[in-house]
Order: sequence, then C-alpha cells, then structure tokens
Amino acid sequence: MPYVIRWGIKSSFREYIGSIEGAEEHVSDGASRLPDGTFVFPAADPAATMDSPELIRCRGAAGFRAHDGLLDVALNEPWIEGSDGDLRLSIRRSGTTSGLRVELARLARVEDMQSDTRWVFDAVLAIGGVHVFDGVYPLGAELDRLVVERLSEEEEAK
Ligand code: HEM
Repeated sequence: MPYVIRWGIKSSFREYIGSIEGAEEHVSDGASRLPDGTFVFPAADPAATMDSPELIRCRGAAGFRAHDGLLDVALNEPWIEGSDGDLRLSIRRSGTTSGLRVELARLARVEDMQSDTRWVFDAVLAIGGVHVFDGVYPLGAELDRLVVERLSEEEEAK
C-alpha cells in the first residue's frame, strides 16, 4: 500500500496567513488539504511501500502568497532523508526543476506513537527552513508534528 505525508507545517504560520487580507494559499501536483488545514502529500511512486522512514518520497506542492507577493513560501515534494536517529525533511527548491533540495526540518520519531501503518515525528526547523521563512523563525523552532500514514485500500481507491 502506498503512503501519504500529512503535515500542517506550522499552525501559527497558517493562522498568520489566514489573518492577512488578500493572502492566497494553494495546493497543486497532487497535494490536497484537509478541513483542519493539514496538507496531504501523496507518495511520488504510487507503488511505493512504507518500509523505512528514510525512503519516504512524496509529491505535490503547497504555497502561500501574501503582502503583494513579498511573502512567497512554497513547499514542494517533501522527502524524508537521512538515517534513523538523524532524519531530515527536505523540499525541492521552488522555481527549480533541477532537483536541488533544501533541508527544511529535522525529524525525531515520537516513540509512543508508532505503528505499522502510522509514524509520527516531532519536527523542528533546520537551517534551510530558516531561509524558507525569511529568517522569521529561528533554527530549531518547533513545527507541527508530521505523520506518515499508509493508505487503506479504500482510501487508495478514492
Ligand atoms: C509587507 C511585508 C510584511 C508585513 C507587513 C508583515 C507583517 C507581519 C506581522 C504584523 C507579523 C506578526 C503577526 C502576529 O504576531 O500575529 C508577522 C509575522 C510573520 N511574518 Fe510577516 N510581514 C511581512 C512580510 C513577511 C515575509 C516576506 C515573510 C516571509 C516568509 C513573513 C513571514 C512571517 C512569519 C513566518 C511570521 C510569524 C508567524 C507566526 O506567528 O508563526 N512576513 N508578519
């Protein structure tokens, strides 16, 4: 069964964007949004299985624009990389198709919330992520918890 990444990025950032008049939020390339504001990024390879955290590759893009385009934050194609104990979340640099990636966050498994079908990670901002948010959040700022979840056959058929 394939998997998805479910992630709200940072709830205070979503609230901030929601409070700015004229701000736009969009999803594309297969990403979607749940009513609670969480983004869902599907596995890049529909045949991929949930074997190991460092082999999670998702597609899709979430974007935020506000302040007449001065604020332009895009999160494209989240991948989990590294090794267990040293996991990072990377995204493709916006505006490039070259595959250049930015390390957005560091991840740590939440030990008492793991199952065969669901992995939950604490996430904190990595140096690449500091740039993505224009230096507003410091290195290590707490982000929302990130979930990797195996799809049931029912969900997959949707
Ligand atoms: C015209 C330009 C901008 C204005 C007037 C502006 C204004 C503000 C204000 C007033 C806050 C505080 C909001 C609050 O505490 O509720 C804030 C927070 C923030 N701004 Fe901006 N901003 C601008 C540009 C940007 C840009 C270019 C970015 C780039 C990513 C950005 C990212 C953020 C972030 C991440 C926060 C913190 C949100 C949180 O509480 O988590 N802003 N901004």
